[in-house]
Amino acid sequence: MTPVVREPATRIDRFRTDGFVRVGPVLDEDVVRRLKEGATRLISRFGEEDRVSEDYWHFDVDGAAPVLYRIHNLEKQDWPEAELLHRPELARLAAEFVGEPVVPTAFALVLKEPLRAAGVPWHRDRPHLPPHLVCNISICLDEAGPANGCLEAVPGSHLLPVDADVDAVRDAGPRVPVPSEEGDLVVHDVRLVHGSGPNPSDRWRRTIVIEFADPAVSLEP
Ligand code: NI
Repeated sequence: MTPVVREPATRIDRFRTDGFVRVGPVLDEDVVRRLKEGATRLISRFGEEDRVSEDYWHFDVDGAAPVLYRIHNLEKQDWPEAELLHRPELARLAAEFVGEPVVPTAFALVLKEPLRAAGVPWHRDRPHLPPHLVCNISICLDEAGPANGCLEAVPGSHLLPVDADVDAVRDAGPRVPVPSEEGDLVVHDVRLVHGSGPNPSDRWRRTIVIEFADPAVSLEP
C-alpha cells in the first residue's frame, strides 16, 4: 500500500481555511527599515500641535499625555516613505489571495505604545462582503507576540454569516495569537473575527495595514 503523504498546507489554503496567514518577509530589509523610520517620524509628530490632524486617532488619559493608537489615511500624510506603500510586491501578494485586479483601498499605521496602549476590541472589518474577496496586509515593523499585543484571531471565522455575534465567536474560540517578526507580512480576510490585547511590555508594536480590493467591489454596505 502506498503511504499517503500529506502535503503541507500552502499559504493560499491557509488563507482560505483560517482567514489569515503569516507570510514572512516579502519586502527588502531596506524597505522595511525605511518604513519603520518614517513611521517613527510620523508618531513623533503627535503632540506637536500643528502636526496633529483628525487622522491621528488617540484616547485621552487623566493627568498624562494622550495615547496615539492609529494614524489613518497614511498615504495622505506628509512623509517621503509614503511611496513605499505602493511597492508592487504588496499588490502581487494580495492578488495571490483575492485575485486580480486588485488595488490598495486603505492605508493605516496601527500602533501600540509601550506600557500604555490599550487592546483593540474584537471586530470584523467588512463582514458584509463575500469571503476571499478583500484582504488586509499587515507589514510588521516590530517583533510582536501576546506580550506586546499582537494580532489574535479565531480561525475560520471569516466564513461565518454577516450577523455572527463577534463576542460570542471570540469567547467560543479558539483564540489564536499571530506572532510575527520585524518585516513579516500577515494577510487576513476582512471578514475575520480578530482583535488584540494591550501592550504592558516595554516594546513597541507597530504595523502598517493596507487593504486590497477589486476596484469593482463596492466596499460600503
Ligand atoms: Ni481589523
